Amino acid sequence: MYSCVFDGAKASIVKTIPDEMRFIRRPTMARRRIIAGNWKMNKTPSEAVALCAELKDLVKNDAVDVVYCVPAIDIVPVVEAVKGTNVHVGAENFYIEDKGAFTGEISAPMLKDAGVEYIIIGHSERRDIFGENDILINQKVKKAFASGLKPILCCGESLTLRKAGTYKEWIERQITWDLDGVTADQVKELVIAYEPIWAIGTGETATADQAEEVCALIRELIAKLYDQATADAVRIQYGGSMNAGNAAELLSKANIDGGLIGGASLKPDFGQIVNA
Ligand code: PGA
Repeated sequence: MYSCVFDGAKASIVKTIPDEMRFIRRPTMARRRIIAGNWKMNKTPSEAVALCAELKDLVKNDAVDVVYCVPAIDIVPVVEAVKGTNVHVGAENFYIEDKGAFTGEISAPMLKDAGVEYIIIGHSERRDIFGENDILINQKVKKAFASGLKPILCCGESLTLRKAGTYKEWIERQITWDLDGVTADQVKELVIAYEPIWAIGTGETATADQAEEVCALIRELIAKLYDQATADAVRIQYGGSMNAGNAAELLSKANIDGGLIGGASLKPDFGQIVNA
């Protein structure tokens, strides 16, 4: 390889390098943007099909991965409704066993068979309301990869931790636990969603700088836990009251590769976010 050292000893080598090649930078991996809707517990199956029709033309964008993460009962009709479009389908939850006596649960093979590609894991509502801890979340991440589903792994701090100034340690701990035993090749396919709990559904968005600070921290952590190539490949979303008005600024940040969108994913605004 060429050298970029401009000292006397290397001067003759440098001279032979064409001008445009003198400054060799570490190539920044072009990460594909991913805009995912998290429909949460909204939309009956017929309402879900109607929403797909309403959004169909608005979310067209071949440069972006567009995902609808929908309630379990909407998966089959939504997969049907988005056939032939650029939309991918995700689920909001699953359990780590393939089948058996787990009343009320749904398995990864069921999701795969229905046409699901992405799976939200570790959302703060699942952590806080349904008591999911990092041990289960870690098992879910590994199970998702083993089953061919792409995890959207959520992390984020409460308002108390934000105010206490300990949010960085909290995020690092969540990610470190949740990725225990997950390989670098898997992490390259992973999507991480940074969702400060105080910004979810509250209308209070983190500023673009606040969001970028944590997304950059997550990427640095991945570099530490794995390597730079893995950190360059992993896609990191921001989530928390992202809307048509603030998406462009958030998405302009170097370490924000997309968004996980709740409320605004149920409206035509979602198309504006996809095309922000
Ligand atoms: P919100 O939800 O966009 O309604 O704040 C985001 C999320 O919980 O994923």
